[in-house]
Amino acid sequence: METVSFRRMDEATAEDYELLDRYEQEMLLELPDRLLAAVDALGDSYGGYMITRKEHSLQSATRSFRDGRSEEYVVAALLHDVGDLLAPHTHGEMMDAVLKPFVSEEIRWVVSHHGVFQEYYYGHLTGGDRNARERYRGHPWFDSCAEFCERYDQNCFDPDYESLPLDFFEPMVRRVFAEPRYLERR
Ligand SMILES: [Fe+2]
Ligand SMILES: [Fe+2]
Repeated sequence: METVSFRRMDEATAEDYELLDRYEQEMLLELPDRLLAAVDALGDSYGGYMITRKEHSLQSATRSFRDGRSEEYVVAALLHDVGDLLAPHTHGEMMDAVLKPFVSEEIRWVVSHHGVFQEYYYGHLTGGDRNARERYRGHPWFDSCAEFCERYDQNCFDPDYESLPLDFFEPMVRRVFAEPRYLERR
């Protein structure tokens, strides 16, 4: 593999960065593959539930697809828990950062905040606060997040629900991640 000439960035040349840019473009093209692999890896996460977190993710994506949600929404549903493995305490925020260039701000807000909104379903059973989401009451996307949790998250632990396979969602993931449509130029 061709490599750069520098060992310290303050010695780099423009040619070095042209070379790095070519490799970076290849890396970016493989992002959908890495995300699909990350969903697949959720087949081996939290124990104790009746289904794996991968099946939960497929159930979330399938239910939102069958409800006629937009492609960005369905892909976000598929990926909403991918952060579980690396950011168990902040998994929504992690996926917010991943999704930022590729889905609308509203969908990102929903993914980012779904963790605290999910507490509505278990906070009173675990010594937590089921009304923690109330701190966001009045936010323009409060209802969107509450709806996501009600229809595509808290109810997606059903072993009898027939989800579509990951392959079904693959072309959608590739389309949504084909271009950083929402990326703000710095
Ligand atoms: Fe989650
Ligand atoms: Fe979830």
